[in-house]
Amino acid sequence: MMGDTAVLGRLAAVCMLVGLSIVASADEQDVIDYRQHVMTTLQEQTASIAMILQKKAPAENLGAHAKLLSLAAVTAKKTFDTKAPGGNAKPEVWSNAADFAKRMDALVAAADDQVKATGNAQTASAKNQAVLAACKGCHDAYMTPKK
Ligand code: HEC
Repeated sequence: MMGDTAVLGRLAAVCMLVGLSIVASADEQDVIDYRQHVMTTLQEQTASIAMILQKKAPAENLGAHAKLLSLAAVTAKKTFDTKAPGGNAKPEVWSNAADFAKRMDALVAAADDQVKATGNAQTASAKNQAVLAACKGCHDAYMTPKK
């Protein structure tokens, strides 16, 4: 007969297995929902930066939004590591993975550049154009337009 400790040990092992399988079973829809949330985070930052550049929002927040965008860009790249075709992502995201990764890296680089250029309104605006071009270039190639 097992002692109490052994029983508890087995129970703990079972709980861990169940816990692991919950993590592992994050299904494809979860992967898609998650990456869309991270993309939306990017969009909120570009929208906030646009308002600041149009002098409709406080200029002193430009640096903060640039950093948030940069962090979200790094995160966005990771959200495509798990292959989950669907949402509005074209299958080419994974079949042209090298080009897709290059575009994500270009966004990350443009976003980093923007972080360094928030002191001067004119430079900030130019760097922002580069960020937006990275968004648009990838969407044109890898995203099916929303209906
Ligand atoms: C390297 C490619 C790539 C780059 C760069 C990129 N995106 Fe995306 N984006 C995608 C793909 C692919 C989807 C479709 C994801 C899906 O539906 O699963 C998407 C979806 C979106 C969506 C829709 C999210 C939703 O709720 O359905 C928004 C908004 C968005 N991106 C904003 C941005 C912004 C803003 C930038 C630039 C700052 C950016 N993206 C840069 C590939 C990219």
